[in-house]
Amino acid sequence: MKRAISMLILAAPVALAAPLLAEDIAAPPMPVPGSVSAAQALEAWTRIEAVVTHPRCANCHVGSDNVPMWTLVGETRTRPHGMNINAGESRIGAETLMCSTCHVTSAMPNDMPQAPPHAGVDWQLAPVEMQWFGMSGRDICAQLKDPARNGGRDGAGLVEHLVHDANLKGTIHWGFVPGGGREPAPGGFENYLRDIQTWVAGGQPCPG
Ligand code: HEC
Ligand code: HEC
Repeated sequence: MKRAISMLILAAPVALAAPLLAEDIAAPPMPVPGSVSAAQALEAWTRIEAVVTHPRCANCHVGSDNVPMWTLVGETRTRPHGMNINAGESRIGAETLMCSTCHVTSAMPNDMPQAPPHAGVDWQLAPVEMQWFGMSGRDICAQLKDPARNGGRDGAGLVEHLVHDANLKGTIHWGFVPGGGREPAPGGFENYLRDIQTWVAGGQPCPG
């Protein structure tokens, strides 16, 4: 008995320390099947659309010219990334100048107007089949639910990807807390996650 108690005491600091080592962001439970109507799912899509067409997201989800877009701090105009940056087919700049030359990978908060460095995964363009920049909301919706063009993800896989990225403090997470004076994507990460869950549970409808 005495032995069991001392083992409990020993175990306690380990359990308390764990959350400090790994920040665990978990998705709320999926809505019960059948509980979300197509109309509710479409309403969630309108908020999702505002996020995915926002410069903090779309500037990396660009087409086959491999040119990232930028919207300078304090401006609303979006234009091709300065300094002739081209990400090449590698989408990470391997052919010319690596994105990571300026966009340093770090999970620290970003408090300066500089090359956004603070994503916990390497800075690079999204694959060309995930193009959002210049596309209509309807086209982006069709892309996002097509496993051939979304990284092979079903609805549950999309939710899992968001949670995974948030735990890594990756580029999606960055879009909601860009720092450095940049305007965040609207609504916040948690609401975006919930809207994706609602859209998935309601059958991933797209605007007509
Ligand atoms: C020579 C340095 C340099 C390189 C190399 C570079 N960038 Fe940038 N990038 C910057 C700077 C500086 C900014 C911030 C500009 C500002 O807003 O003041 C920036 C901003 C951005 C933005 C933010 C746009 C926004 O509005 O949120 C994206 C996206 C981006 N770069 C993508 C890339 C990609 C992809 C690569 C690799 C192909 C790359 N960059 C390579 C310097 C660089
Ligand atoms: C620095 C560039 C960058 C930024 C900024 C960025 N992404 Fe991405 N995104 C990527 C890359 C790279 C992938 C491919 C990763 C993968 O599929 O595992 C990706 C893939 C995705 C996917 C996978 C599914 C699909 O069909 O596109 C989603 C969803 C996504 N991003 C959402 C977002 C959202 C929402 C934002 C803004 C809040 C955002 N991204 C900002 C680079 C970026």
